[in-house]
Amino acid sequence: MIVLNSENSSLLFTINNGQLSIAHWGSPLYPGEDIASLVTATTPPISHSNFNEVMGRDVMRQHSRGFLGHPTISGHRSGKNWSPHFLLASHSQQGETLTANFVDTDSKLSLTQRYELNSYGILTISSTLCNDGTEDYNLDEFLYWLPLADRATQTMDFTGRWSHERHPQRHEIHFGLTTREVREGRSSHDYTIAQLAMTGNANFATGEIWSLSVKFSGNSIHHIERTSDGYKSIGAGELLMPGEITIAPGESFAISPVVANYSAEGIDGLSHNFHSWQRSRPTHPTNIRPRPATLNMWEAVYFNHDAEKIKALVDVAAEIGIERVVLDDGWFHLRRKDNAGLGDWVIDPTVWPNGFSDLISYINSKGIEFGLWFEGEMVNPDSDLYRAHPEWMLQEGDRDMPLFRNQLVLDLTHEGAYNHVLEQVSAVLSANNIAYIKWDHNRVLIDAGHLGQAAIHNQTLAIYRLFDELKRRHPGLEIESCASGGARIDLGMVEHADRFWTSDNNDALERQTIQRWTSLAIAPELLGTHVGPTVGHQTGKTTSLSFRAINALFGHAGVEWDITETTPAERAVLKSWLSLYKAKRAMLHSGKSVRIDHPDTTAFVYGVISEDKSEALIAYMQHLMPSANYGANILVPGLDDSTRYRVSIVREVGAPRYLQIGDILWGDGVEMSGKALAHVGLKPPSLAPENGILISIIKA
Ligand code: GLA
Repeated sequence: MIVLNSENSSLLFTINNGQLSIAHWGSPLYPGEDIASLVTATTPPISHSNFNEVMGRDVMRQHSRGFLGHPTISGHRSGKNWSPHFLLASHSQQGETLTANFVDTDSKLSLTQRYELNSYGILTISSTLCNDGTEDYNLDEFLYWLPLADRATQTMDFTGRWSHERHPQRHEIHFGLTTREVREGRSSHDYTIAQLAMTGNANFATGEIWSLSVKFSGNSIHHIERTSDGYKSIGAGELLMPGEITIAPGESFAISPVVANYSAEGIDGLSHNFHSWQRSRPTHPTNIRPRPATLNMWEAVYFNHDAEKIKALVDVAAEIGIERVVLDDGWFHLRRKDNAGLGDWVIDPTVWPNGFSDLISYINSKGIEFGLWFEGEMVNPDSDLYRAHPEWMLQEGDRDMPLFRNQLVLDLTHEGAYNHVLEQVSAVLSANNIAYIKWDHNRVLIDAGHLGQAAIHNQTLAIYRLFDELKRRHPGLEIESCASGGARIDLGMVEHADRFWTSDNNDALERQTIQRWTSLAIAPELLGTHVGPTVGHQTGKTTSLSFRAINALFGHAGVEWDITETTPAERAVLKSWLSLYKAKRAMLHSGKSVRIDHPDTTAFVYGVISEDKSEALIAYMQHLMPSANYGANILVPGLDDSTRYRVSIVREVGAPRYLQIGDILWGDGVEMSGKALAHVGLKPPSLAPENGILISIIKA
């Protein structure tokens, strides 16, 4: 028996008849537990019409062992060796990492699998499959499976589309498979950033949650399965296209890993594990420097690049306290609209006759950094690159590829294509003082073939390699991963990018749901959250500035708005909001994110509590018309019960529109204990829809 432990979870393996099985995944085991007795206590009887022995919950779910649910591995050699029969050959444990070696002597395959449980309760599982035979082996599918406790009765996953990412769907776990698949060749707007299984009572603060996520940015599969024996499991892995992976004799293939997580403290507990793990990495951006307040100029200028207009934006940016400005799409060869230029990463002299040197000097002279947009995996047919190398596109056979936003996909698995984009981008970065790039990906990968074989797996590895190489060549460079907004946000890309563009939808009300659920698995400081224009460009709705400002505070904050059109009063709010962001970002980007279960569904309550519980910032966001004259009390659990806190409304984000006469009595300050905040709470003001308040809670 083997046990891997972290403070908040345990994984118990047993070995029987040459199989490695998982007897428990979830709450931490008591250190002195008699593991053998525990296994005896949970072993089912032999039932009628069944095998002569009880089959365990094997890691390798195999037909040959009598497992009748969805298998771990599917593959063959031209129709032969279709039924794998892996046996555990050896294993070793080092700390909280188990390495297991399996061999299938009939199929001539061997597999090494690693289970690595870190101190935050994050379990990473990875595998390498080796072809020990003399003929090619075609791997069709490899999924990782973990057992779920019987009390996990519900599942939750996330769906979406452009400008509408990560909307939750929660339902009962039924017999059979519940499946989410992505075939876009990028993680997708519709990607379930984590598949959850949960106890029926689970909510943000309570209940148990088990989650599994593919740690890869290409195609994916997530399953929940309940087989007729009653067992429930969660499974995930990369979705492979037919014939995509062929392993030659003597070669091995690194299967894309998955990340599992468990929380006994509700959904927020799960997020806390994810965020703590990400923050523990030396490369995590906030371990290098605070996240600069950003102005992205896309919604201010779109393709109309004009140096004078951009300088005017920079002037206002400097006035309000912006620390980084980003020039978006439209700066390179031929790129006056979205039908030309992708592929030619050279500055267009018709728009920028002197290159960027004047502009960047102007920006830097105001103490602001400069960032630039690329979309290096994409090509417009109207580009010099396409004219010179039409053979560098991902495609299947000779048929015409359908255009998507007028573009095709560059085959990064082709050495020449890879080097072209690497060298062109690198040359722009070497010649200019560029701190940051926003890297877009605005097309799905369909028929994405390389020399007659599906190439999504290799294309995904190539973009990781390219990002890593750009960072190696340009130390300090930050990369934002964008894909028509949030279509490439996943636990694979988090190891290569420093920021994600959460969604193209900048409407603050829409962002409430998108940000709430993207931050389920991604630390908020990695998510771009910008104050958009008064009238949202995506929804055409008018939203108050304070609501937009509070919404954008909880992430890597910025502005995406033609701020030259703002009134002096709006600039004053943006300025005080940005000073607040700078004063509080260390706390916001290190504390515990909480989404507070609130009885009134017309409002969201959420925020951040500092690690030492001395401080919190809580947003009360009224989405719809309040359902009653007096809103439900805002409870803030998670502070220190016996500490007294000073509680007040933060005015730096601007004033909301109230549905009340006068201010709420506690607005300018009241003192309460942590216990009272958790159990009695604060009466919210009565707010008009799409208005909110920011509440400061500081140790008195
Ligand atoms: C995508 C991005 C936007 C912007 C445009 C530019 O849609 O998500 O933020 O960069 O491309 O074309």
